Formats: sequence, structure tokens, C-alpha cells
Amino acid sequence: MDARKKAQVFVQTAVAPLNELDRWVQVGEEEARQVYEMTLKNELSGGTEQVRAFENEFREFTGLKHAISVINGTAAIWSAMYGCYVGPGDEVICPVYTWLCSITPAPMLGAKPVFCDVSPHTLLMDPEDVKKKITSRTRAIVAVHLWGMVCDMQALGAISQESGIPIIEDCSHAHGALFRGRVVGAIGKVGTWSMQGSKAVSAGEGGVLATDDDEVFDRACMIGQVNRAAGLDLVSAKYQKYQPLGLGIKFRAHPLGIGIARVQLRKLGLLNSGRGAYIEAVEKALKEIPGLDPVTLTEGTKRGGYYGFPAIFRAEQVPGVTRDQYVDALRAQGVPASSSPYDLLHRLPYFAEGMDVFGFGRGVMCEDYTGYKEGDFPGAEEMHRNVVFLPVLTDPVEGATEEIIRRIRKGVESLGF
Ligand SMILES: Cc1ncc(COP(=O)(O)O)c(C=O)c1O
Repeated sequence: MDARKKAQVFVQTAVAPLNELDRWVQVGEEEARQVYEMTLKNELSGGTEQVRAFENEFREFTGLKHAISVINGTAAIWSAMYGCYVGPGDEVICPVYTWLCSITPAPMLGAKPVFCDVSPHTLLMDPEDVKKKITSRTRAIVAVHLWGMVCDMQALGAISQESGIPIIEDCSHAHGALFRGRVVGAIGKVGTWSMQGSKAVSAGEGGVLATDDDEVFDRACMIGQVNRAAGLDLVSAKYQKYQPLGLGIKFRAHPLGIGIARVQLRKLGLLNSGRGAYIEAVEKALKEIPGLDPVTLTEGTKRGGYYGFPAIFRAEQVPGVTRDQYVDALRAQGVPASSSPYDLLHRLPYFAEGMDVFGFGRGVMCEDYTGYKEGDFPGAEEMHRNVVFLPVLTDPVEGATEEIIRRIRKGVESLGF
């Protein structure tokens, strides 16, 4: 059979999980008009007017000095790591519970991924375990604000200050989340955001990096912005002679995607208030419903982006019922609940066993790489057994939030509680 006939179209954009309950449509007229107008102007490559405008608006959004758009969130992390001098022989610490691209650029730069545990209550990296994982080779720490929740940047900031190790904030799930009133991504050395099609700010495919640090910015331009705009990007004299080619690697974003993201960034406030109000209302109701507890939020933080809505299954509140039975009961009532969409990274063969990435026994993922095994991350493993994801509504129709709560209650009643 022709392999192409079997191939499926793989679309990964965001759709409201319950159309009848949510008015939200991710992209509409405004985004379409933007693309149409940019196309007519042939604004299709390079650091165009819209790309520059987006980056300026992103600088304002973060309050940071520099912002660069890139092809995706992975390239943003790659650029940030290169910006922080991650290279051969280094180690980079990252939570074991995140999307793999929070760490995958490290081995491509020659650095070993080192995982730290996460708290089963916050789902986020445990600063105490970060401390234990630091060695003389640690070059960077990736703090991931997973599912829109904010890491303990106070504790991580103290670790960074004491050790001199920079923090890269991966904000791919948390556009517009706040730590003590400051937007995440603007707290560590450098922030990165995915703007992939299902994110709170979508470019279809895209990413962005922002920093106050000239050196990080210059190096990020060097590694990814070949031939973008000679003399405009780099701020220091150090790399001027390499302009405009840099290292000849191209992570430049497609302007049409960035044009879309520019429209989306303007809508972020509304998206966050809609999702936030819905999630808070459901969490309040969960306090009276046996079996699920809201996650614990880091003090002084406000969620944003809300890429997922996790809650913690409490077996002791519903004796005899497993997490999976609980999830099935909610699904039977029309609540698209699920276990975690991500597995823990130490279970993926790449990280569990390592791999001869470059062939001929080279690279950090083979030879001395010791890998990981079950039991290495008790907090994350406990969390992963118990986490339940509930649907995220962005613009609920009248009564939709109450309807979700009613369905959850009915599902739990069907289990005899
Ligand atoms: C936490 C996190 N980091 C990084 C990325 C990588 O972003 P992209 O898919 O745009 O490369 C993602 C993508 O989903 C993510 O969820």
C-alpha cells in the first residue's frame, strides 16, 4: 500500500474541548486579515515590520530589554542555553516532569541532562532537589512553569545567586503568569516561550526568547538569526565582526506566524481572565467533592496561560476507587478528564538508557551516561500516579462552569460517594 495513503494529517492546534460549553475559537477574522495583508505586502521573510513590532510589544509585555522571535519554543530554549554558555562537558538541571524539549537542546550542545524531582503537590521542580543535583559542571537550571503554574522563583533565585548558575525560565505553558506581580520569564536570566499552535499565544509554530542580559541576547542572535538585520540586532562590539551571518544557523521565525502571534498577544489578558475564573470556580467546588484536590500554588503567584488544568486524586477520600476508575466516571458524564498527557522524562528510553546520538559512541548520552530508573524520582512518580486533568474552558457560555461542576459531581456520585 502507498505509505502516503496511510499517513494521517497531524494537526496540533487548540480547540475548545467542549464546543457546546465554550465560545472560544483560537484564531479568527483578525488573525486571517493580518496574514492576508502581510502576504499582499510580501512580508514573508526576515525581520519584517510585523516581526519587529511583535518583538517590541513582547519587550513591553515582559519589561525586558531584548526579545527575539524564533521558529519554535525548542529553538528558544536552544538559543537561551547557548546564550548561557551551555556547552560540551556541562550539565543542565531540569524537572523530570515537563515536555522533553525543555531539556533536549542540552545534549545537542554537548551538555548532560540532569533531572530533579518535582513536588507531588505543586507538580513543579523541587528547589531542595535542585540543590542536591548541582555539581561543579552545572551550567544552567531550567525552571518550567508547567501547566501555567509558577515555580518557587524565590527559592530558585536564591540558589542561582549563591551558585552563580543562571536560570532559564521555560514559560511555554504560562504566558502572562506572575510571580510577585512580575511576569514569568522576566525573573531568571532569560525567559523562553513556545508559541506552538496549542499555546495561549499561538504563532501556529513559533517561539520567543526575552532577556535583560546583553550577552545572552547577543549569543542568541549569533546562534539563530543569520542574516536577519545587519547591525540592528547585536548590542555589543564583541560579535560585530560576525554580523550579519552569526554562526550561520537559522532559527528565524516565519513572519506570518509572528503576525498571528501579535494579534494573539493582544488577546492574552482576556484569555487568562476567562480561563482563570473558570478554573478557580471549579477548584472551589472541588473542595466539596470527594476524590480531587486542587494543586498547591506557590505563594505570591498568579497562574497564566493555563495550558492544562491538573488536580490531585485523593484515594483516601474515595476508598476502593482507583484514579483511572475516577477518570472513567467523569468521562462517562461528559467531562473529558484524563491522566497526564506527558510521561515522566526518566521513563523515556532516550533518558532512561541514553543513546548514541551522534554515532560511533560520541556525545553525552552514551558511554558515561548512567541513565535513570523507576524509583529515582519519588515525588514525580507519586504525582504522576495521582494527577487528573480536567478540561480548560476559556470563554464559557452562561452556566457552563456550573455544568462542568455538576457533571463532576454526578460522576463521583456514580461511584457511590
Ligand atoms: C514546557 C514546554 N517547553 C518547550 C516546548 C517546546 O515548544 P515547541 O513545541 O514550540 O518547540 C513545549 C511545547 O509544547 C513545552 O510544552
